[in-house]
Amino acid sequence: NEMLKWQRTGYHFQPPNHFMADPNAAMYYKGWYHFFYQYNPNGSAWDYSISWGHAVSKDMIHWLHLPVAMVPDHWYDSKGVWSGYATTLPDGRIIVLYTGGTDQLVQVQNLAEPADPSDPLLIEWKKSNGNPILMPPPGVGPHDFRDPFPVWYNESDSTWHMLIGSKDDNHYGTVLIYTTKDFETYTLLPDILHKTKDSVGMLECVDLYPVATTGNQIGNGLEMKGGSGKGIKHVLKASMDDERHDYYAIGTFDLESFSWVPDDDTIDVGVGLRYDYGKFYASKTFYDQEKKRRILWGYVGEVDSKADDILKGWASVQNIARTILFDAKTRSNLLVWPVEELDALRTSGKEFNGVVVEPGSTYHLDVGTATQLDIEAEFEINKEAVDAVVEADVTYNCSTSDGAAHRGLLGPFGLLVLANEKMTEKTATYFYVSRNADGGLQTHFCQDELRSSKANDITKRVVGHTVPVLHGETFSLRILVDHSIVESFAQKGRAVATSRVYPTEAIYDSTRVFLFNNATSATVTAKSVKIWHMNSTHNHPFPGFPAP
Ligand code: FRU
Repeated sequence: NEMLKWQRTGYHFQPPNHFMADPNAAMYYKGWYHFFYQYNPNGSAWDYSISWGHAVSKDMIHWLHLPVAMVPDHWYDSKGVWSGYATTLPDGRIIVLYTGGTDQLVQVQNLAEPADPSDPLLIEWKKSNGNPILMPPPGVGPHDFRDPFPVWYNESDSTWHMLIGSKDDNHYGTVLIYTTKDFETYTLLPDILHKTKDSVGMLECVDLYPVATTGNQIGNGLEMKGGSGKGIKHVLKASMDDERHDYYAIGTFDLESFSWVPDDDTIDVGVGLRYDYGKFYASKTFYDQEKKRRILWGYVGEVDSKADDILKGWASVQNIARTILFDAKTRSNLLVWPVEELDALRTSGKEFNGVVVEPGSTYHLDVGTATQLDIEAEFEINKEAVDAVVEADVTYNCSTSDGAAHRGLLGPFGLLVLANEKMTEKTATYFYVSRNADGGLQTHFCQDELRSSKANDITKRVVGHTVPVLHGETFSLRILVDHSIVESFAQKGRAVATSRVYPTEAIYDSTRVFLFNNATSATVTAKSVKIWHMNSTHNHPFPGFPAP
């Protein structure tokens, strides 16, 4: 069926077929970026044959797919080779820790290493004879012990610290700490790294890393070694199994007590900020030693029917790799932004300047077919309209609103992507501005999927969050459109929203992009809109190389 065929992306990471989920063990090794991922080699949904798919890249954009790295083939992982992480030891050796689902469905931790470290492609993997290296300790449930993550190496006593997510009897998320010198024997520390403020349940894919408060990159590969104190904060991230969202919080990690404390416990991990307010899960960062930056990967699952996934023969995509920085301007959030390598896919572009969009109108940004785009847009709203709004309106919320159809005084305004000519199908990415109780302005950044498809067997929501817009700043958006995925970034990555959408009419040559302004009083000026068509990557893993 042509509609389902069209949904496959052109420049996002996808294996050739079947089901994909969590990113695992991203690393840079002997000239290649390696990417592993939860993969079912047998079908379009998760099941106990979950394995580690593997691909390599020179730029994290063009990929060469390699044989499956690890499959369930021992009692300690016969119900799945679950998520894990790769660590480069001080001597250059690579180790991987992963969770195995045992034949009895107990979650245990296992060790694996490249069979031939001289192979830059790391094709063969060997699992340790000592597996499982860790069983759930007393008091931890057999299904609450997964996604191991070596976080910090203490040179003075050659000890590694490893984190594992869990939950306690009262359903609070917890992060356990083990120490090890050889990755074969481990000691559980009596104190945990952190317990969540609310009873948010099991913490999956826990991550902890330093950020520099100057807003620059930090790190030397031995992640936490920089320590606490001057100019450094630490981000704790966990994937909430109950809610299926990835939350982070900025705080301080104390090397002495090995505990982490949020700067503001009302926005602790699990209750405050998210990397992405749309569809995005089980993410993990890694430190890119080649380019000295922290990179975030997460997977974007399907929200269509299981039956359609079977017909398509695949499920899920990965987001475009994103860099992570502390926002030195707001000091309260991260900046999450597509890697610069993506820009090389930009081909023919078009620029629109100073387009005035009156209240209640739309404007066609004519770029022809609009299925694979990178869009950068900056908006201003007229000052008189803003000044005329005196009453506070703090009730707005993206997810309970009627999205782009609602009309407020100062919004919504933004873009309609994957729209058909008549705009009866469209995904709206927009800002909604209102006056705060204290007289200032509050800006919401939302993505409206409600009218993204005429099909009704899919989940459609309005996603988003408030985003800081500082004095003198324009409202800025970057939107990556790629068939069935829309990744949107507000204010240079202060807030992000990703959607999966499945248009029925706005496909192939019928895809269009528009500006819209559904405010009742504000006139919006699109100061500048730059739109590039994006090259596809799948048939050409490396520019200049023949397809494999
Ligand atoms: C997150 C997760 C992990 C687990 C893996 C199994 O999506 O549930 O906690 O290791 O998926 O596929």
